[in-house]
Amino acid sequence: MERRGMTVLVLGDGGREHALVWALRQSPRVDRVLATTENAGIGELAEVVRPTSEAGDSPLVDLAIREGVDLVVVGPEQPLVDGIADQLAEKGIPVFGPSRAAARLEGSKVFAKEFMLRHGIPTAACRIVSSAEEAREAVRSGLFGYPLVLKAEGLAAGKGVILAADEAEALAAVESLMVDRALGSAGDRLLLEECLLGREISYLALSDGTDYLPLPVAQDHKRAFDGDEGPNTGGMGAYSTSALLDPALEAVIRATIVEPSLAGARAEGFPFRGVLYCGLMLTAEGPKVLEYNVRFGDPETQAILRRLESDFAELALAVAAGRLGSVVPRWSDEVSTCIVLASGGYPGAYEKGKPITGLAAAAALPGVVLFHAGTRRSADGQAVLTNGGRVLGVTARAANLSEATTLAYRAVEAIQFDGMQYRRDIGHAGEPGSAL
Ligand code: AMP
Ligand code: GLY
Repeated sequence: MERRGMTVLVLGDGGREHALVWALRQSPRVDRVLATTENAGIGELAEVVRPTSEAGDSPLVDLAIREGVDLVVVGPEQPLVDGIADQLAEKGIPVFGPSRAAARLEGSKVFAKEFMLRHGIPTAACRIVSSAEEAREAVRSGLFGYPLVLKAEGLAAGKGVILAADEAEALAAVESLMVDRALGSAGDRLLLEECLLGREISYLALSDGTDYLPLPVAQDHKRAFDGDEGPNTGGMGAYSTSALLDPALEAVIRATIVEPSLAGARAEGFPFRGVLYCGLMLTAEGPKVLEYNVRFGDPETQAILRRLESDFAELALAVAAGRLGSVVPRWSDEVSTCIVLASGGYPGAYEKGKPITGLAAAAALPGVVLFHAGTRRSADGQAVLTNGGRVLGVTARAANLSEATTLAYRAVEAIQFDGMQYRRDIGHAGEPGSAL
């Protein structure tokens, strides 16, 4: 009897998840990819299913059982922090994504910072405060000089970090987070941190709890506007090239950050299964952790997966099944870039429902792949409309960074929607001679 191929369920609805679905669809082992989203790009590659609860379990667990899902790949952090991996594992469903206990590395910045201190992992010096009074007193003591970084302890969708230029700004941030509770309970406790200087990189590693495999390094561009100006966003573009790290520095990152983080998680009873995202600052004193995420970065993953030349389903299943040690993925030496096209006003208020044109022309350029983030099909199915802040990720792969960015921007020029905004300098920081 012929063996049935895998059914994979992907949770999440952004550009990262479109890239994951795209990578899974290329696997000869995968028969069906299921998704639970309106995203028009994912809708073209996956069967869209609606979770409903029959047996009294969580709707997603019910769905996975009903559809005979062989693997669940979790995109965003919130379901992981809420314990979806534990719920699926309880029913024997393989899952790519860490347990609720391990997801605290992203879900609580206080937990993450204390974890790093326990395991001697280099990170910014920090004071944790749990009341406005304590925070004001610490700020007035001028503890780490300026700029001072203030972080809300809980998940805040990228809005929880404030860089205060002086004492007045720091005190205003304390008022906003702890008194006005602008981010609700995420601001119950704050971290006051020294500001680290250097180049920021995203270093991701797959882990099955025992073995690990680093992914190609990437750099994100978090600020909204060119030249790293404007507010922080979820990420306006990324690129991935091995030229971002020399082998000696990568060895330091593995030995002082990745390995002690994974060993620490194991020693504390929550072996990490999934992808550990280390947001790093390459400081003059060496690499230091800015933050952990317990899931793929977005848009970094859109760029990183463009460089994968082997079977992503095999890799994801090896993570879930604890046999990563037997897998050797192949990565392209080429360079990839991802330019995010956002709605006008993002990351602030923006309108939705704008028709997008030029998608087919852009996607037809050799080396270009479009990933959808905030999009949906119009009711008659004829048009693709904007449906979120980050709308599209335009990715390109080429022999070097300047060819990859040139190609990606050529594709961008083919695409239009009312209010479209994007950065013109994605990848520039990685060019030879750049100040960074
Ligand atoms: P986080 O949510 O912790 O990733 O912080 C968001 C962004 O704020 C990071 O990507 C950095 O660009 C910046 N950031 C966070 N912590 C620091 C720090 N200690 N020093 C300098 N920049 C920081
Ligand atoms: N690109 C940043 C993140 O995924 O958190």
